[in-house]
Amino acid sequence: MQPPRVLNIEDLRCAARRRLPRIVFDYIDGGAEDEWTLRANRRAFEEVTFRPRCAVKVPACDLRATVLGATLPMPFILAPVGSSRLIYPRGEEAVARAAGAAGVPYTLSTLSGCPLEDVAAAATNGPLWYQLYLVGGRDCALPALERARAAGFTALVVTIDTAVAGMRERDFRNGVRELLSGKPWRVWPFAGQLLARPRWLARFIADGGLMKFPNVVIPGAGPMSFADVTGALEQSVVTWEDIAWIRKAWPGPIVIKGVHTVEDARRAADAGADALVVSNHGGRQLDGAPPTLRVLPEVVADVGDRVEVLLDGGIRRGGDIIKALCLGARAVMVGRAYAYGLGAAGSAGVTRAIEILRTDLIRTLKLLGCPSIAELDPSYVDVPPAWRLGNG
Ligand code: FNR
Repeated sequence: MQPPRVLNIEDLRCAARRRLPRIVFDYIDGGAEDEWTLRANRRAFEEVTFRPRCAVKVPACDLRATVLGATLPMPFILAPVGSSRLIYPRGEEAVARAAGAAGVPYTLSTLSGCPLEDVAAAATNGPLWYQLYLVGGRDCALPALERARAAGFTALVVTIDTAVAGMRERDFRNGVRELLSGKPWRVWPFAGQLLARPRWLARFIADGGLMKFPNVVIPGAGPMSFADVTGALEQSVVTWEDIAWIRKAWPGPIVIKGVHTVEDARRAADAGADALVVSNHGGRQLDGAPPTLRVLPEVVADVGDRVEVLLDGGIRRGGDIIKALCLGARAVMVGRAYAYGLGAAGSAGVTRAIEILRTDLIRTLKLLGCPSIAELDPSYVDVPPAWRLGNG
């Protein structure tokens, strides 16, 4: 990784595309159906413009943000990205190592390829959050929650937008079903994309190949296999009743991820959530869901005094983070921005992604004439007239 050649997240994306088989790159890069929501998330950031205060000297910038009572060095958290071990050997540990070194919280997906205890050991000094799917049911979730607590995970993120897996057409075109079948005659037509990346393939095989999910231990049957996950997700829709149960089972802070509307934001606050994430899963679930930045101001206006509001979806620059903060987010989550880094260069690539966002944040604050994250407010941005509260 040569920093001067990797100036931004798009450079990491291009490097990941060169290093990963198409099926793995598209797993990260793609969205659901027509990918309208995927694009709309990005477009929303382009519609918001800055209102800088010029001729203002900002000698040092304070990037700290307070989330769930903890001070974060920067106003972002690494979002859960399932099966990161496909992207890079021991992928979740590689991400935890980079996040920990920077003190940035990392949210480990239920669908991690690495045991959560190993991820906790790699995280050293960074806070860890655990993301819960109810795959395998409550009997499977409860021991995982106990393990996560014992390993030092501080917050629980409950994802509510995954009633079924979104229709990610790139995955199907790349042969995900055939490759998961394990049957050589079905795999063969799609094997070329793996053979075209021999380095990735050698490392993947050395790391154990298609892995199981070590944190989804089905009572009496052991860890769930990769091929079973789609069916398991459909049988385990997280409901508001489940959230009441989770609230009792997890004593620490709870974050509800996947809020698209003010109505669900209110439900999350009523259910006792400490924070929520305005999120459409990065455009990977319901295509046609609104861009998150567009929904954020009304959610903040409605429940912002009862629950901490975070946002994710489409963040590729520090300036995007600043726009979300100006519109009321306390912090944001980033997914693909670091996943591209993982694909490009493992832990070093994630470190580079974090560093890119950090330097972007400092530069943008200075250009805005604002000394700290805590002082950002709506007066630093202009939103399109249709976005203004009361205009639908
Ligand atoms: C995700 N996301 C996700 N979310 C979740 O709650 N559990 C998960 O296991 C996953 N897995 C996953 C895999 C991949 C490859 C991606 C790209 C995303 C969604 C993720 O947490 C987050 O909501 C989005 O990634 C945010 O959008 P951006 O930052 O990727 O645009």
